[in-house]
Amino acid sequence: MKDMTVTIKRFDPDKDRRPYFQTYTVKVNEGARVLNVLHAIHDTLDPTLSYRYSCASGQCGSCAVRVNGEPVLACMEEAKDKSTIGPINLAVKKDLVADLLPTLEQVASFFPKKDIVLPKKADIDAIKPLRDCIECLCCVSVCPAMDVTKFIGPTAMRQEMRLALDPRDNGDRVSDAVRDGLFTCTSCQACWKVCPKEIETPGKAIEKLRALANKRGFTLPRHLEVAALVKETGRSVPRTAESFLEQVPEVIEPYGPVKATVGFFVGCMYNLRQQQSALDAMEVLKRNGIRVIIPKEQVCCGSPLIRTGQLDYVDELKRRNIETYKSRGIDTVLTMCAGCGSTLKNDYPAEKPFKVIDINELLTQYGIEQPAKLNLKATYHDPCHLMRGQGVRDQPRELIRQVVDLVEMPAICCGSGGGVRSGNPEEAAALGKRRGTEIKKTGAEVVITSCPFCEFHIMGHTDKPVKHVVSVLLDGYREKDRLKAAEKT
Ligand code: FES
Repeated sequence: MKDMTVTIKRFDPDKDRRPYFQTYTVKVNEGARVLNVLHAIHDTLDPTLSYRYSCASGQCGSCAVRVNGEPVLACMEEAKDKSTIGPINLAVKKDLVADLLPTLEQVASFFPKKDIVLPKKADIDAIKPLRDCIECLCCVSVCPAMDVTKFIGPTAMRQEMRLALDPRDNGDRVSDAVRDGLFTCTSCQACWKVCPKEIETPGKAIEKLRALANKRGFTLPRHLEVAALVKETGRSVPRTAESFLEQVPEVIEPYGPVKATVGFFVGCMYNLRQQQSALDAMEVLKRNGIRVIIPKEQVCCGSPLIRTGQLDYVDELKRRNIETYKSRGIDTVLTMCAGCGSTLKNDYPAEKPFKVIDINELLTQYGIEQPAKLNLKATYHDPCHLMRGQGVRDQPRELIRQVVDLVEMPAICCGSGGGVRSGNPEEAAALGKRRGTEIKKTGAEVVITSCPFCEFHIMGHTDKPVKHVVSVLLDGYREKDRLKAAEKT
């Protein structure tokens, strides 16, 4: 047995004016779960503590709580000393008991057809990844779209797609999904990453429903415009100035010995809207021994079309990009855009002839020349498609800390993804404003990120400069050069 101290968010709406925190120390067995700690507190110290459970084995979903802000199943999560435990992010009935009913009542029910239709094996296989929900509502607890719109939520969308795939169901699931906020999902993937059953709601439900909606003519006008632009130009952003690809040679040699050769995939935003960040990246790669091949015929990765369910032209984009890098014998494709990187890694065929690496991964893998430390306080915004889409969280921090003092802030979606910035600008602005508030709280003088969509969107919601990781590294190198030159004079 060992002592375990936890702080619990308490609230009894019949007695308390507002929630408060109470700290308890109890004895629990080694390897105790959060639920065991709650039992110990209830049984030995405070029988007034309310929490919910049933199966105690991760099957019923009734015990979901937030531990240090993350939604988890109390019966499955290992208890850690000094944790804070609160209810999931819904109306609270008492203490850790959230009111699940209003949300669960919105999850669609089966609406049987009059005639008996049996699902085929293919239907059953397609439905399978969407069937495991235990209605814990962890996903609902982290959904940014639900915070600022009337979006019905991830699990309700999962159910719409599950029913849309079922030949026995007679409902109009696509119209219902569109009505209930199908196009408000930012593709942040938070719902998937907290799901105890690992249900991939963004890719397996939202994007699939958007594709069905596209066939029915429900695609948002702004998204149709983007698709038309991609078909016409191969790019999702219009050309208003000299592109990155027009400014650089096809091969960039490093200053020193070659540590690695990569093919660079620039992406539409860094090619046509934020060219300077990509130029900064080339300079950083030059200083760090990376030889860069930049094929000029590369096109949009297809992400803006995949996320919005417009799939007609996606295979052609994939074919052109794969052929482009394959024809040069490139075995490693480098990205610096979180969205492009996630798309190339996760949406392109697994058997493509190259591996894909994000620039933060590459630089930490090979190691970088030490930059000068700047006297700057910075915060880092985790792009959803880098942190959740590619699992790259620590590498940008490792690089950033070599140049500036890093102040952390919560990893929340800025609202720019999933076609929301173009399709639902009010929602994007509301989420951007929330991001801006968090940035302000840190007191940072500069905001660092690793995605052009986040970079561009956050710029509109903070008065601080917003930079890619590589631009900050370059600032560190320029300061190093300046100090060296000053030493000589
Ligand atoms: Fe059933 Fe935790 S008590 S899932």
